[in-house]
Order: sequence, then C-alpha cells, then structure tokens
Amino acid sequence: MTTGALGEVVDLLACPHCRQPMHLDDRVLGCTGPHRFDLAKQGYVNLLGGRAPRNADTAEMVAARERFLGAGHYLPLRDALATLIPSGTVLDAGSGPGWYAAGLTEKARGLALDVSAAAARRAAGAHPHIGALVADTWGPLPVADGMINTVLTVFAPRNHAEFARVLSPGGRLLVVTPAVDHLAEATDALGLIGMDPEKEDRLHAGAAEHFTAVSRDTVRCTMQLTVGELADLVGMGPNAFHRGDPEPIAVPERITASFVITRFMTH
Ligand SMILES: C[S@@+](CC[C@H](N)C(=O)[O-])C[C@H]1O[C@@H](n2cnc3c(N)ncnc32)[C@H](O)[C@@H]1O
Repeated sequence: MTTGALGEVVDLLACPHCRQPMHLDDRVLGCTGPHRFDLAKQGYVNLLGGRAPRNADTAEMVAARERFLGAGHYLPLRDALATLIPSGTVLDAGSGPGWYAAGLTEKARGLALDVSAAAARRAAGAHPHIGALVADTWGPLPVADGMINTVLTVFAPRNHAEFARVLSPGGRLLVVTPAVDHLAEATDALGLIGMDPEKEDRLHAGAAEHFTAVSRDTVRCTMQLTVGELADLVGMGPNAFHRGDPEPIAVPERITASFVITRFMTH
C-alpha cells in the first residue's frame, strides 16, 4: 500500500463535488465539506464519480503503451518537453501511464490525470512528486483555480476553458499533436487510421477563445521496431479500438515518429 505523491500535491486539488480545498488523512482524501474518496492501494484516487467513457484506455492498451514508451523510441519528445517544463506545478491531462511525467525534473510536482483507472494505477508510481487521479478532462477538473504552471497534454483530449481556469497567471499550455507524417510508413503498411491533416487547424480554433499560440516546435525521429514493438505501437493507440486483427503483418524497415509541440499562453 502506498499513498503515492498525492499528499505532496493535495493543495492543487479541488473537490469534484463542491470545489472546496482538499486534504489527505491516512488513506482518505477529503474536502472541507462532506466528501470523501478512498485511495487505491497503488496510491491514486478515483474522482470520476461514474463509469469511464468508452474511449478510456483499457489495461491492455496501457500495458502496450508502457512497454513501447519504456523502449525509449519517444525519448526525443520527452526530452524536448522536459526542457519546456523545468520546474513548478504540472497537470498532465490524459497522462496515460505517466511516462512523460517520469521525465520531469525533481523540482516539478503536480498531477497526472486520466479517465482510465488502468492508466492512473501506473501513473501513481511514475514520478515521486506527481499524484495520479482518475477524472474526466471534459468535466470540471478537480483542480484548484490558478495553481498550475504548466498544463501538458500529449495526444489526449483538451478542455481549454478548464485548462485556462487552473493555470496560474503566466502559465503555459503545452499540446503535443501528431505531425502529418507521424507513423506514415506503418500507416501505409498496415492500413491504420491516417493522421488528420486538419488536426492542427482544429487545435488552434479550439484554443483561440482562451489561449494565444506562442511557439511551435517539431520533433522528428526514425524508429527501427521489432515485431513486438510494432504490435505495441498499434495496440496502444486508436487502432486498438478500430482494428479487427491486432497482429501486424510486416515491419517496415524504418518508421517516422513526428510530433508538433505547440506552446500556448492565456490571453
Ligand atoms: C493516446 S493516449 C495518450 C496517453 C499519454 N498522454 C501518452 O502519450 O503516453 C490518450 C489518453 O487519454 C485518456 N483519455 C481519453 N479520454 C479522456 C478524458 N475524457 N479525460 C481524461 N483522459 C482521457 C485515455 O485513457 C488515454 O490514456
């Protein structure tokens, strides 16, 4: 049994029911009102208050993601993000197993939030100062106003109004989206869902009410994958929901990973 890092970051939380501040007593997270939430034995807390939506990653997808990320193919992206988040408080929204949080400096502290309990279970141990929550990005976030210096979202849903509310003055939103050539060789070879060329336009349109884009960086690398790694790459993403046959047939010699990091500030 562990309390994870939640005790260290409880000041960042707001009760999902009444918005009051929260405190951790033993293994129970409570607000100054009547609401109480038991910690899971891995040290995360479920604040969802209902069933996870259908697009929550399954335990199999989270395991595939952990294996794939653990092999280091996306390290150039994690390193680039770590330079943009040197310290302060962080909210990783749609964190998956917390692999990006694990690359943060010791000075950073914050929250890994995901609607999947399987993901939160893994994220609870990712970083000594990042507490893990099950919560829905589309709902009111269980996070106090203005307490977060950096909101990070990597290939995950975005609730710009809520991100703006929880950010401190001068805080930043870092959004990672796939570039158009992301996984192009695998997409062609395996008939996977292609990248949406209008994704970036939609990101800017969706953010415009609350945020101004201040920088755009691309991170591109080439991967040589084993059959098992390619199976994990397919199994950890949207193709795991859509593809009938999970077995990839042939491994392309090289596969491009290509990301866009967009940094936004509140108006
Ligand atoms: C493509 S995965 C990315 C995970 C992680 N950011 C990474 O790149 O390793 C998308 C994640 O968003 C989570 N997710 C989907 N809908 C969500 C929602 N409404 N609120 C919070 N998390 C959500 C999924 O469970 C999944 O872990």
